[in-house]
Amino acid sequence: MSENGHVPSHIAIIMDGNGRWARRRGLVRIRGHREGVESVREITRECAKRHLQQLTLYAFSQENWKRPKREVNLLMKLLKDFLIRERDEIEENNVRLTAIGRIDGLPEDVQRELAISIDESKNNTGMVLCLALNYGGRSEIVDAAKNIARSITAGKMGIEEITEETFKKFLYTSEMTDPDLLIRTGGDMRISNFLLWEMSYTELWVTPVCWPDFRKRHLEEAIKEFSRRERRFGGLQE
Ligand code: IPE
Ligand code: IPE
Ligand code: MG
Repeated sequence: MSENGHVPSHIAIIMDGNGRWARRRGLVRIRGHREGVESVREITRECAKRHLQQLTLYAFSQENWKRPKREVNLLMKLLKDFLIRERDEIEENNVRLTAIGRIDGLPEDVQRELAISIDESKNNTGMVLCLALNYGGRSEIVDAAKNIARSITAGKMGIEEITEETFKKFLYTSEMTDPDLLIRTGGDMRISNFLLWEMSYTELWVTPVCWPDFRKRHLEEAIKEFSRRERRFGGLQE
């Protein structure tokens, strides 16, 4: 099939395989997470340069709390360091940082640094970098349903007004477009509770490459494959 010239404007990534990357090298899992930060840096820079509208990164799922405390603590520390250290880079690339997930469930120091980074970058006009933190797709839908119920009880909304469009307004992603392309590294063919509502018609691309090895050339491969896909959204080919 030939390329149709379509480029994704919103890419979402499940950054998986850090642990396996480390294990294969005889290293502790935590080393994989550290290396993964370098991939985040390179891919964010590259996507910003390509003038993508949005890059959404699955950095910590709600289910990831099930991991040993030591690993969770290190992930939180890496996240905090990333937020502090990348501020200049975010500024230089005109990136606007946002976050989705139950942010109030994150450690307070992480919440604080996140709030600072979001505030400092709020007037940037380039790519949106959205971090999914303490994120769960089902929780997002449950939270939206609760807020809709509150609106109805308060008399601000009627049941008949619940449509796909109004529902969307209650999601964490209310201000965003749906992802065009989902990349999952590490080879597993699953969604792992990521953006369940938003990915109805997202193109999926899975690579066996583990996240710490994921580089610009892999991103280019994914984008090229996307350009060959024919998106029909349930309709027929033009
Ligand atoms: C992804 O890598 C990072 C997070 C989930 C935070 P993993 O830690 O899941 O690595 P694998 O899947 O065990 O290799
Ligand atoms: C998905 O990876 C979550 C993130 C990348 C943050 P997991 O490693 O948690 O997913 P499962 O457990 O293999 O489905
Ligand atoms: Mg994993």
